[in-house]
Amino acid sequence: MTAALQHLPAGSDDAQRLAVTLGIAAHAIAVHRFPDSELRVTVAPATETTILYAPLDQPNDKLVTLILAAEALRRGGARRLVLVAPYLCYMRQDTAFAPGQAISQKAICALLARLVDRVVTVDAHLHRTARIGDVFPGIEADNLSAMPAIADALRGTVDPQTVVVGPDAESRAWVTALAGLLQLDSTVGHKHRHGDQSVDIAFEAAERLRGRPALLVDDIVSSGATLTACAKILRTCGAARIDAMITHALFPPELLVHFSQAGIESVRSTTSVPHPTNAIRLDDVLAQALRWEVHP
Ligand code: R5P
Repeated sequence: MTAALQHLPAGSDDAQRLAVTLGIAAHAIAVHRFPDSELRVTVAPATETTILYAPLDQPNDKLVTLILAAEALRRGGARRLVLVAPYLCYMRQDTAFAPGQAISQKAICALLARLVDRVVTVDAHLHRTARIGDVFPGIEADNLSAMPAIADALRGTVDPQTVVVGPDAESRAWVTALAGLLQLDSTVGHKHRHGDQSVDIAFEAAERLRGRPALLVDDIVSSGATLTACAKILRTCGAARIDAMITHALFPPELLVHFSQAGIESVRSTTSVPHPTNAIRLDDVLAQALRWEVHP
């Protein structure tokens, strides 16, 4: 059996490190944009098992690239396509919040399920979806957790008085996991979103936060409204310092100044999406899930 990894132009450093860890070759997929914005995609020769590495932030062009790459690879002889999307896009719209809205999670996952045989992702936003397999009909799907890698990086460096804080009920899974791994106290807030850039957050356990360091944990930071509102309320609660740890950094790096002004001392993210805040590598967690694909 032959196996190799092919990656989208974005995230090439992370993809290449993963390929080295797995002991396989890595090739970049070439993407040419025509003047009318259509894309031409050129893949390397297909291997029997081909791992497609694609961080799916800024996803629209990348989804088209994947459709075209899968076509070329299947036609070239790839029998097993494994999509490694450390950040899986379009997962937050997991229901129709108003009549007529598309359920993006359902539509995009169904599309990906037609292209590949397995999807591997990290901290997918599965709020109303019990298991990731529920949205990937007929293929294998793995939702890995970044929390053990984050805990490994933080162990021994965190004040034991730290409270791990999540902004909303949706963050409970990762907050509980990280607090458990580091044996820290934790709490989650209640969030009300008024619009893309406007949220209100409240904490019932406000007293517990007074004078203690707060480690904000969330899966995604996009507009930054959630993180900023959280920092504001934590300051009001008297938190001794505020740091943030996120899995998927989707926000423009210019927002870092804004976070600092909001009183957040540091923002760190995993390598699921290439970003200046990347501090936690996902190489090992991904390699563990993929090893049997390349060394059965
Ligand atoms: C939503 O439930 C997610 O877990 C994040 O809290 C949210 O996507 C953050 O978005 P933003 O940075 O735009 O507030």
